[in-house]
Amino acid sequence: MNTIEAIAARRSIRRFKDIPIPEETMEAILQAGIQAPSGKNRQPWRFVVVKGEKRSDMVRIMRDGLDNAKREGRATGSAEWTVKVMEHAPVTVFVFDPDGVRPWLPHAVDQMFNELVDIQSVGAAIQNMLLAAQDLGIGSLWICDVLSAYEELCSWLGEKGEMVAAVSFGYPDESPEPRPRKPMGETVRVL
Ligand SMILES: Cc1cc2nc3c(=O)[nH]c(=O)nc-3n(C[C@H](O)[C@H](O)[C@H](O)COP(=O)(O)O)c2cc1C
Repeated sequence: MNTIEAIAARRSIRRFKDIPIPEETMEAILQAGIQAPSGKNRQPWRFVVVKGEKRSDMVRIMRDGLDNAKREGRATGSAEWTVKVMEHAPVTVFVFDPDGVRPWLPHAVDQMFNELVDIQSVGAAIQNMLLAAQDLGIGSLWICDVLSAYEELCSWLGEKGEMVAAVSFGYPDESPEPRPRKPMGETVRVL
């Protein structure tokens, strides 16, 4: 599969088969993430892989976090649904920016600019993983709903820095139609 084909065929997958992903396949996906470009080659990413029995802890912690959020009157959006997807995914990879600052702490302007660059680098790493997964027959879901249980997941995972997202992986058990995209005319302006 060439890159253009992988980009066209990729979908967000929310139903996974109950089949483990071979270790070498997961390593190839993570390696694709590590090969992403990054501002000043800072490689501002750390990946925490959750699989096997640890998945039930992850789901419990995330549900606790969502309950806390609701008690505090914070919106949890689609997170209740997403955690069900994570529950059935054989592997979920949490992605951190180790130099990032927790969102609720004050950010100096220089820090903000560095983070603008680093978040783009992390996004490139995530997209590389999604496309590598597609090439290897693995479905994926890019997840920001983990941010609704931010503190609880960060303290369970024991990572410093900023949690950016998670990605669930597994053999797809659905073939969704492409989601609509805005037409070029709406998104591109040629001067
Ligand atoms: C930054 C980002 C965060 C996302 N967070 C979630 C999420 O938390 N839960 C979810 O079900 N999908 C999530 N998605 C998937 C989007 O809903 C999906 O990419 C979009 O609807 C387009 O569908 P497609 O990926 O199949 O093309 C996220 C995607 C991105 C890029």
